[in-house]
Amino acid sequence: MNYLEIINRRRSVYTLTDRLPISENELVGIVEETVVATPSPFNVQSGRAVILLGEQHKLLWDGIVYDTLKAIVPEGAFENTAAKLSGFAAGAGTILFLEDQDAVDGLKERFPTYAAAFDGFAAHALGMIEVNVWNALAEQGIGANLQHYNPLIDDMVKSRWGIPASWTLASEMVFGGIARPAGPIEKLPASERVRVIR
Ligand SMILES: Cc1cc2nc3c(=O)[nH]c(=O)nc-3n(C[C@H](O)[C@H](O)[C@H](O)COP(=O)(O)O)c2cc1C
Repeated sequence: MNYLEIINRRRSVYTLTDRLPISENELVGIVEETVVATPSPFNVQSGRAVILLGEQHKLLWDGIVYDTLKAIVPEGAFENTAAKLSGFAAGAGTILFLEDQDAVDGLKERFPTYAAAFDGFAAHALGMIEVNVWNALAEQGIGANLQHYNPLIDDMVKSRWGIPASWTLASEMVFGGIARPAGPIEKLPASERVRVIR
């Protein structure tokens, strides 16, 4: 599969199973290699990932996110929310993507001229990690979707898994075997989004 085939294979897949086509250790290796390979501004390498597998993954969705939302979502709307969360829990794992704020702050001190831009740059770099991981999982036939229950869950996540105070949660990528592939999606034609000037 060439690169364009892989990035076209990547979709938001919401109906997942806990059965992966590769071993957990292989998946961990792919995520590690992808995080390290992805570029960052001034090579700051502020992106972090925490991989939750098996019961730890289920605890995130059936425990932390469920309890957090149950306390704030109106009674009538919670049934839908709960169904969505149990769909995430049915996957094989979740990758938490985080930003090490200490690293970004260090960059601001080293390069004060660009200080105002670094939060944005760091977010771009973390987005690059996210999409590189998403593509790498797609290449293996692993389905994934990207969630953002932060900052609601930040404190519970940090205390449950001993995550350093300076790491700020940015997103949660749920992954697993593909029970139902993504449906068709409408896209603007490239001609509306890409201009060629020669
Ligand atoms: C930066 C970013 C944030 C997203 N946040 C969410 C999210 O919070 N919840 C969700 O279900 N999907 C989220 N998505 C998935 C998008 O809705 C999805 O990628 C888009 O509709 C295109 O569909 P595709 O991923 O199947 O190509 C996010 C995607 C991106 C790139």
